[in-house]
Amino acid sequence: MPNAAVPLDIQPRASLREHNSFGLPALARTLIRVHSEADVRRVVDHPQHGVAPKFILGGGSNIVLTRDVEAVVVKVEIGGRRLLREQADAWIVEAGAGEPWHALVAWTLEQGWPGLENLALIPGSVGAAPVQNIGAYGVELADRFHSLDAVDLVTGRSVTLDAAMCRFGYRDSVFKQALAGKSVITRVRLRLPRPWQPVLGYLDLERKMSETGNPRPDARTVFDWVCAIRRAKLPDPAVIGNAGSFFKNPVVSPEQCRDIIGRDPEIVHYPMPDGSVKLAAGWLIDACGWKGKSVGRAGVYERQALVLVNRGGASGAEVVTLARAIQESVYGRFGIRLEPEPIIL
Ligand code: EPU
Repeated sequence: MPNAAVPLDIQPRASLREHNSFGLPALARTLIRVHSEADVRRVVDHPQHGVAPKFILGGGSNIVLTRDVEAVVVKVEIGGRRLLREQADAWIVEAGAGEPWHALVAWTLEQGWPGLENLALIPGSVGAAPVQNIGAYGVELADRFHSLDAVDLVTGRSVTLDAAMCRFGYRDSVFKQALAGKSVITRVRLRLPRPWQPVLGYLDLERKMSETGNPRPDARTVFDWVCAIRRAKLPDPAVIGNAGSFFKNPVVSPEQCRDIIGRDPEIVHYPMPDGSVKLAAGWLIDACGWKGKSVGRAGVYERQALVLVNRGGASGAEVVTLARAIQESVYGRFGIRLEPEPIIL
């Protein structure tokens, strides 16, 4: 339980280098670590920091820091995880926003509650997962979401949001839009449907099924496959600084796509239910010759062109310069504007 006698954990002029997965240097004007909902309310009620602009930080795995943050950075470290209830059609699991996402995925599987295995090894915290509606290998957070609790940073009031209120989109939610910087997610509840149905439609997983001759993997096997696929093509942020996919996969009209396919028949693309077409940004960047290239100390990962990396000591400005150069060359060749996925500060 929060103890009112313990003062809030407030650090002035705090380094954020350890708090962003790119490992970029920047200072926070003030860093406040919150361990409970009550701590968040104490930030709201704080005579000085309560009224200052806020930036909410989870695992720091989806941000690019290009300068010092002249705001109160609220680092969410609220822990705890439990089975809230077991229904005939689902397990409802609740976790504190500060829990590491991957540890939650592994723990639910160990407990015998499958459903999150396709989302294994995604860096970041539980509270950050709904913000950008994390997704991988055919499953998005929105597909397993029940509800979340958040504290309003103006009123200090706790609110519960269901999926509709979160306005999930592709790597998007209300927390990247209208509620950005305005409310702190404290707890997330997930709905893991019963009976468990594997999601195996993604090309890389189909490949694993044929390689291993196992067309009916259990959840643990899917988890192991996803971990192996990710380790083979995505850099571990603990070793090489990065923020996962740097750009969203662009969605174009069928006409635009036909035009591009006419010129580049190899282009990797996926038809969407509404008739539009999603293009693989990694393919576009790769086709422009960027894989393995660098600008200063920022580079394009050798095994996945959609991931920009810190080759050691890079600044946020170098990452952004590299990103702009990539955007320009993709626009020049394909007429498509790539949109960054992480939040650029
Ligand atoms: N490709 C290339 N060259 C590259 C990279 C990719 O030709 O350098 C081609 C691949 O061969 C493949 C296609 O592009 O045919 C798509 O690549 P991949 O399967 O690796 O997936 P992605 O579209 O690059 C998306 C997500 C990832 C997620 C994977 C798996 C986005 C922006 N990214 O990547 O999410 O793990 O699918 O579902 O939607 C993240 O958001 O940080 C992230 C890593």
